[in-house]
Amino acid sequence: MSNRLNSTPNDLRAFWMPFTANRQYKKEPRLFVGAKDMHYTTHDGRQVLDGTAGLWCVNAGHCRPKITEAIREQAGELDYAPAFQLGHPKAFELANRLIDLAPDNMAHVLYTNSGSESVETALKVALAYQRVKGQGSRTRLIGRERGYHGVNFGGISVGGIVSNRKMFGTLLTGVDHMPHTHQPAKNAFTKGMPEHGGDLADELERIVTLHDASTIAAVIVEPVSGSTGVLIPPKGYLQRLREICTKHGILLIFDEVITGFGRLGAPFASQYFDVKPDIMVTAKGLTNGVIPMGAVFVTAEIHDAFMQGPEHMIEFFHGYTYSGNPIASAAALGTLDTYRDENLLTRAAEIAPYWEEKLHSLRDCPNVIDIRNLGLIGAIELKPIDGEPTKRAFNAFLNAYNDGLLIRTTGDIIALSPPLIITHEQIDELFDKLRKVLMNNI
Ligand SMILES: Cc1ncc(COP(=O)(O)O)c(C=O)c1O
Repeated sequence: MSNRLNSTPNDLRAFWMPFTANRQYKKEPRLFVGAKDMHYTTHDGRQVLDGTAGLWCVNAGHCRPKITEAIREQAGELDYAPAFQLGHPKAFELANRLIDLAPDNMAHVLYTNSGSESVETALKVALAYQRVKGQGSRTRLIGRERGYHGVNFGGISVGGIVSNRKMFGTLLTGVDHMPHTHQPAKNAFTKGMPEHGGDLADELERIVTLHDASTIAAVIVEPVSGSTGVLIPPKGYLQRLREICTKHGILLIFDEVITGFGRLGAPFASQYFDVKPDIMVTAKGLTNGVIPMGAVFVTAEIHDAFMQGPEHMIEFFHGYTYSGNPIASAAALGTLDTYRDENLLTRAAEIAPYWEEKLHSLRDCPNVIDIRNLGLIGAIELKPIDGEPTKRAFNAFLNAYNDGLLIRTTGDIIALSPPLIITHEQIDELFDKLRKVLMNNI
């Protein structure tokens, strides 16, 4: 332990931390120096139960041997191969394995390094696809209020979280938004999918009528919205979006950055809801969060539309230096092996009923105004402190951390998404700790 303590930096100034209250943090730093399975070790030597799978990404739990070993081996064998006009075997092997797991209409994979890059890639594929199909007037992109699609310009343009957008100018042009589906007056404390709000998908028809289908390239939604504070799709909503998109020749993009890789109890949300998008955006759980990597899945129809013109010509002018990086590919293969060997991509389905019961048992805690859940996702919405929005949830986060539990908050909502290896006893521990936090006058 002393070695770990010695590695703690004594000057925190230079690092401008992402999505962090930097001044508060640097007065009261929270550092992790180790992790194993369901727990982090803090710099002051405490164990913290991971209630959030890192940032919705460590689905198999921490420091899993197959992943660590795959990275170690790959780093000693082939560290980097140019991604353009050249390749290496593992990137191809991984793509095939991903397609085997994916909904059956998915046929090809493009690699990225993050969820944000996967979103940009998907939007660009959609626009370019419409153009190569001779439908170049289809340039509009439709997102949704409260949607989160990462932090790059395309993603914040189709996204709908105001703090992520308002500082950054006029964003992409030609973007419109559907209304979000959060209707607490009708749906508060629903277990699973809400009854009310499926008809909100018809707002897409209104948008199509306003702009005309011939101007719209794609619609992008998270099947379950995560970063906005967990919004579960109302019954029938995603099916209806699919129908409307199909009717008007609009591509449907599912952003599965948090729902991908087992979060709901199926490999992807698309399979869980039985709704097939045309493009699927993933990252996070692809490598268990260990190495940055994302993957964008597309149908054969989309891919094949680009395969024209002289064969020596590049078909799609897009890609990253690190697309399909050998070490990331090895990490992803080690991750898929771990998921397969431990049946993790369907495990959430088995534990979801217990998770739901324990989560909703917090309903009687003070200031709890809604509880929502699906698969191994949970959210507890708190009544904001008058005049100090977000403070109550932030207090809960700090108290939970000090009590040995990692939760995530957004606004005044606590979001929970533990690694898929969580046991019943650890679920008990998580909710016992959270009850204590909520009861303690935050
Ligand atoms: C739905 C969704 N899309 C995109 C992203 C962005 O991913 P990244 O932070 O890897 O860029 C996230 C991250 O939380 C996400 O939840």
